[in-house]
Amino acid sequence: MTILVFDSGIGGLSVLREARILMPEHRFVYVADDASFPIGGWEEGALIDRLMFVFEGLVKRYDPSMIIVACNTASTIILPPLRERFDFPIVGTVPAIKPAAERTSSGQVSVLATPGTVQRDYTRSLVSEFARDVNVKLVGAENLAVLAEEFMLTGTVDDKAVSAEIADCFTDRLGARTDVVVLACTHYPFLANVFRRLAPWPVDWLNPAEAIGRHAQSLLSHGGPIEDVQDIAEFTKGRPKPEMLRLMSGFGLKVV
Ligand code: DGL
Repeated sequence: MTILVFDSGIGGLSVLREARILMPEHRFVYVADDASFPIGGWEEGALIDRLMFVFEGLVKRYDPSMIIVACNTASTIILPPLRERFDFPIVGTVPAIKPAAERTSSGQVSVLATPGTVQRDYTRSLVSEFARDVNVKLVGAENLAVLAEEFMLTGTVDDKAVSAEIADCFTDRLGARTDVVVLACTHYPFLANVFRRLAPWPVDWLNPAEAIGRHAQSLLSHGGPIEDVQDIAEFTKGRPKPEMLRLMSGFGLKVV
């Protein structure tokens, strides 16, 4: 079976990594809509139109048994129309606010996401439904997804720029300090070690990738033989530059 994993860029590889470990018998197609990247600042209606257009083409081309939308920004708006349009399972990536509320000891949680994700009703209703007794600070980072891609491709990133993006996550209310930060953009787990180093104090950086993989696994039948096919990656902008091809090959993905 083919599982299509989608993101606006290469952040969704954090989810692909886990999904492949949990579902080795399937074939994965990773799609980066780099022609739209970054989508964190896109207006909602335009983003829905763009995403539906891209998914129509992908489903025709790859006939997937499942789509994993490995992008929080897209998931906050696209899951209902996708589920209405296609009858195979659609798995989303939504901010891990519930587990964060269960895990915090100080009662101070921050959600680090794109500006789009923190504005969406979907995110705000997760807070009111699952984190009513906790102080949740929504932090919309303007440039962090772009910085994460830079880091993934070059191995270096400007510390000052990253510090400025994460600074608002840290609050100290009369000694009650933020102790959990939800990584609510699939790009951010790749910067987790940089965050750890730059954080003013240690916190739990919550990465939901494995939970997403487990949820996807629970929706598909498994146990068949491992398909002898090459996992592939597609970029909507066309053939990417050599450093991107190297990164993809490191992930065992053949760019088509
Ligand atoms: N990886 C996407 C997410 O999880 C966002 C990246 C972007 O801004 O395009 O929200």
